Amino acid sequence: MNITNDIKYIGVNDHKVDLFEGQYVVPNGMAYNSYAIMDEKIAIMDTVDAGFTAEWLANIENTLAGRKPDYLIIQHMEPDHSANIVNFVNAYPEAKVVSSAKAFVMMKNFFGTDFAEKQIVVGEGDTLSLGKHTLTFVTAPMVHWPEVIVTYDSADKVLFSADGFGKFGALDVEEEWADEARRYYIGIVGKYGAQVQALLKKAATLDIQTICPLHGPVLTENLGYYIDLYDKWSGYKVEEDGIMIAYTSVYGNTKKAVMKLAEALKANGCEKVIVTDLAREDMAKAVGDAFRYSKLVLATTTYNGDIFPFMREFIDHLVERNYQNRTVAFIENGSWAPLAAKIMKGKLEKSKNLTYVNTSVKILSALNEESEAQVKALANELCDVCNDGACEAEEAPAPAMKKFVCKVCGYVHEAEALPADFRCPLCGVPAKAFIEK
Ligand code: FEO
Repeated sequence: MNITNDIKYIGVNDHKVDLFEGQYVVPNGMAYNSYAIMDEKIAIMDTVDAGFTAEWLANIENTLAGRKPDYLIIQHMEPDHSANIVNFVNAYPEAKVVSSAKAFVMMKNFFGTDFAEKQIVVGEGDTLSLGKHTLTFVTAPMVHWPEVIVTYDSADKVLFSADGFGKFGALDVEEEWADEARRYYIGIVGKYGAQVQALLKKAATLDIQTICPLHGPVLTENLGYYIDLYDKWSGYKVEEDGIMIAYTSVYGNTKKAVMKLAEALKANGCEKVIVTDLAREDMAKAVGDAFRYSKLVLATTTYNGDIFPFMREFIDHLVERNYQNRTVAFIENGSWAPLAAKIMKGKLEKSKNLTYVNTSVKILSALNEESEAQVKALANELCDVCNDGACEAEEAPAPAMKKFVCKVCGYVHEAEALPADFRCPLCGVPAKAFIEK
């Protein structure tokens, strides 16, 4: 496949991979891209995954049609791109290996050799002339490992972007770019937004007409669309107005509240509502959607004095990837000591610039009149609807609430004060069996 007259595609499609990078499902497979730049000298851009040695070496041989490569340029040392360096060197012992200093250290660690006799170390702004094509190397640390370089070919105005602008999915499957690119970016590079922003700033100084990533399709048209999405993702900006409700439900009662909330949001005119069962749907897609939309409702149960495991994992993924600049609400369920909302909020403490809505829904085992009213109030607040006076009520200063804990069963009652005739709704003991927490 020709990318330009001189740049040829020599990568492979992987439809055998079960979990990419050991954790991501890839129903449409994966592409490991590699390119040959044909000039007076020939450069091969990166290798491919270990499972495709013969196919990749055959692609090189067929494309070069009797010529031999002069350079192997390694932009990234993760094994999906570096696994065949030794096989390449064995096949083409005359070729030089071009990479960053950090990458050569990694080669020594991976392969027991850093190819000292044939290495060319490049850093920021260094160039390599192939004849008509001059390649300029740009460092891109942590996009997605520290050794990464990207490469600009000024002759054809091509940016070889390493993992940047990559996506899940093999190249022989047609699919929309953004969903699988978002799931890939947020999952794999999402933590390193500042470093991606730095790379975008450097790229903005270049005249780029084609982007050749190491995964996914070569991008040739409407590059502004892709760059704008990358700017939003790496800047942790809202990609789209919408409400994601992420939930876990053990016996269906939390799910009922979630479904009622989704209905109420739609009735209020909030059209874009995404409901995700964290136990059953792809976690990487759920994480990507949390970054995609402007508002997030987290609904789960108190579980073993913590929260349900899938919700714990979900929030860990968000915080690890610097989740920020969003509006967050909570629905908690607990049959004797509901703590989930407090625990979820605590887990989000390291996330910057989150706005928490005033309304929280507390379910005590199953929805009742009080919690259903909270669901309705939450729907109104999330949709900025004040038609029943809920917003005005929320704007009034909230009374200071205290927590009273039942010494017998652990039930927690939140109120300004505990009435003398109060009885525990779970075990029936009187008010004197409660202690203030
Ligand atoms: Fe596609 Fe970070 O390797």
